[in-house]
Amino acid sequence: MKVSVKTGAIHQAAADVVVIGVFRDVLVPDEAKSLDAALKGNISDILDSGDFKGKVGDSLLIYPQGVIPAKRVVLVGLGEREKYDLDAVRKVAAHAVNRVKKLKVKNWFTLVMGWSCINESDVLLEDWVQAFVEGAKLASYRYPLEKKTKTTPPALTLLLERADDIKLATKAVRHASAVAEGVMLARTLVNHPSNIATPTHLGQIAREIAEKHGIECEVHDRSWAQEQGMGSFLAVAQGAGQPPKFIEMSYTPKRKAQGTIVLVGKGITFDSGGISIKPSKDMYLMKGDMGGGAAVLGVMKAIAMIKPPVKIVALVPATDNMPDANAYKPGDVVTAMNGVSIEVRNTDAEGRMLLADALAYAKQFKPDAVVDLATLTGASVVALGRGMAAALFSNHRELEDALMQSSSLTGERLWPMPLFKEYREKLKSDVADIMHSGGRFGGVGTSATFLKEFVDFDWAHIDIAGMSFSQNKAANVFTPKGATGFGVRLITHFATNWQESKQ
Ligand code: BES
Ligand code: MN
Ligand code: ZN
Repeated sequence: MKVSVKTGAIHQAAADVVVIGVFRDVLVPDEAKSLDAALKGNISDILDSGDFKGKVGDSLLIYPQGVIPAKRVVLVGLGEREKYDLDAVRKVAAHAVNRVKKLKVKNWFTLVMGWSCINESDVLLEDWVQAFVEGAKLASYRYPLEKKTKTTPPALTLLLERADDIKLATKAVRHASAVAEGVMLARTLVNHPSNIATPTHLGQIAREIAEKHGIECEVHDRSWAQEQGMGSFLAVAQGAGQPPKFIEMSYTPKRKAQGTIVLVGKGITFDSGGISIKPSKDMYLMKGDMGGGAAVLGVMKAIAMIKPPVKIVALVPATDNMPDANAYKPGDVVTAMNGVSIEVRNTDAEGRMLLADALAYAKQFKPDAVVDLATLTGASVVALGRGMAAALFSNHRELEDALMQSSSLTGERLWPMPLFKEYREKLKSDVADIMHSGGRFGGVGTSATFLKEFVDFDWAHIDIAGMSFSQNKAANVFTPKGATGFGVRLITHFATNWQESKQ
């Protein structure tokens, strides 16, 4: 969907469709008053009648019959004024685009709907524009991609009041487009079956991003991981028929970098559980066990387009987890690249095995922050619920705060969880430095505590097991059923705002 920004009056726009927002408490926002006047009070009449309630998701089509240049006016509900935040803006955008698409038109025009009513609060114009364009673009995502209609989506023009705002708004549109592309890439990778989204495929996608956007990428193989001493990652990979890959990407800003962030994503392309095999019901969903890795690739795509002044390294260890004659087994002891020996108890706790080596590997970049994303535990879903929030663990307060801030602005919800030192006792092993799983109770805390053993820097771990995939229904109006792309908007926001959030 093409999006442009200019100044102009909505009642003079020669548009196929003009979209106007109306709050629930029946009020014509200031920005729509000129249109209402041009339409001789038609909008106020409709609102006075009480026929249009202005709930988010409501819409009403009006034909102005030549009174104004626009051929159609669509009223869309903005909901309650007090509840009109950036998340509402994304939803309003998605509903608006869905309504406009039914009309088979070439273009639509709208305003910074409702912003004049909320701008005493701290919603910046550019944040409104970014949220609106993200919501509008993401609402149109479908999988498989072939199912997409061939017709070009109607182009959007956002009309601003002040010429001074054009630059900011244009930048916000550019950011939103980059973020939406990143989210859609992550969704597609997670939606792909595991016979398409193999470790090799993830590596190819990483290379394509790097070539297209001029960043660096290396896709390491098994023998490279052996040279690195990644005994923990390789233990999981040893039972896989698909060759494992360790993807390393890096974006370096042209100007001097204001710090280095390393992103790590779990890349289990299929999690059968291994020798500790999972029940077959719903096992197919484990094609999405690379949701963390997919989100990290999506972030790199967005970052490569946005070009923030911070260095960003992405690490995605990728492999299937399979039962096999060569597979790793409960009771095995392996050594990660930092020399820590690990006793394996349950081969289905494989994600932390990959992350252990990737986190140890991250140290060489002298990172200011390391953030990992992983569909790590069913326990996180038991604790917080499906689609409710991702579990956030961190060893550093400011980093946690920065992530919580990005979470609230992007609406990708995180919930802080504790790293009690007593969790470590559940990971005691008689035969190794650490045991990799700590049993059923507190499973999300012990998984994070295990990862902590491989961390020697400011770090945050985000368990997205409940967020990456929405099995039965759309997660929301701009996130259709299936892969959500969770984490891309959050982490892109976090990384692009790194300097500001740091002090
Ligand atoms: N990939 C799973 C976690 C998962 C569960 C992701 C549900 C998405 C939805 C992970 O590898 C796993 O199997 N975890 C085990 C850990 C246990 C064996 C300690 C779990 O959560 O049951
Ligand atoms: Mn598993
Ligand atoms: Zn897994």
